[in-house]
Amino acid sequence: MDRIKTGISGLDEMLNGGLPKNKHVAINGGPGCGKSSFTFEFLYRGATFGENGIYISLEETEEGMAENMKNTFSEFRDIDILMEEKKLQITKPDKFELEEIAELIECQITDNDVKRVAIDSATMIKFSFEDNIKYRQTLFEFFSLLRTLDCTVMMTLESMNARKEQLTFDVEHFVMDGIINLYNHEQGDRRIRALEIFKMRGTDHSRELVPFKVLPDGIKIYAGEHVF
Ligand SMILES: Nc1ncnc2c1ncn2[C@@H]1O[C@H](COP(=O)(O)OP(=O)(O)O)[C@@H](O)[C@H]1O
Ligand SMILES: [Mg+2]
Repeated sequence: MDRIKTGISGLDEMLNGGLPKNKHVAINGGPGCGKSSFTFEFLYRGATFGENGIYISLEETEEGMAENMKNTFSEFRDIDILMEEKKLQITKPDKFELEEIAELIECQITDNDVKRVAIDSATMIKFSFEDNIKYRQTLFEFFSLLRTLDCTVMMTLESMNARKEQLTFDVEHFVMDGIINLYNHEQGDRRIRALEIFKMRGTDHSRELVPFKVLPDGIKIYAGEHVF
């Protein structure tokens, strides 16, 4: 099985060498857990390895997203140049039409050799459907189509409860090959970030809940350390 290096410090070790290629991974967590930063770093690292990426931002504008990420990752020196060279693109579609997003991804793979895709967030897509059954059907079809394309996808999911024991599972979790949960755990008077690989089809992986930090030079996952 082919793997791709996420490039996120600590993550590839937890995945026994990297993400299975062309899989679809949900990055799940509450607000402020680090989902956008996580998926952005996945694309940034890819772009520096020669794997082009497109960040489909459904909430933030292109400019807003780029600005946030430059602030968060102030030591990522190559964001501008990678964006100029179209190795790292951020785009905000006008509508939340999954068909249009699939078409956009398909074009980017053909025309711009895109290998990595981030969709942030699926929750915005869900809100655009009045009918939950229609949403499920459309999402299912969307991921069936993406499965035929040569790209690895990370999609963020806003979960209302960041608490581990309160996570509920919806259709998004069943159509995805992998789920990575991000948490913002309360510990005394502060919060600490933690991560777990909940599911990953096609590979063995760590099942530990491990601490991580969002630092100016990238996310650091402390694999092997304990949260409590
Ligand atoms: N420049 C920064 N310095 C320190 N922490 C930051 C910076 N930018 C963002 N963060 C941290 O990252 C969090 C937001 O991460 P983000 O990836 O946007 O989360 P999510 O997408 O899950 O809402 C903020 O709540 C903040 O704690
Ligand atoms: Mg976000």
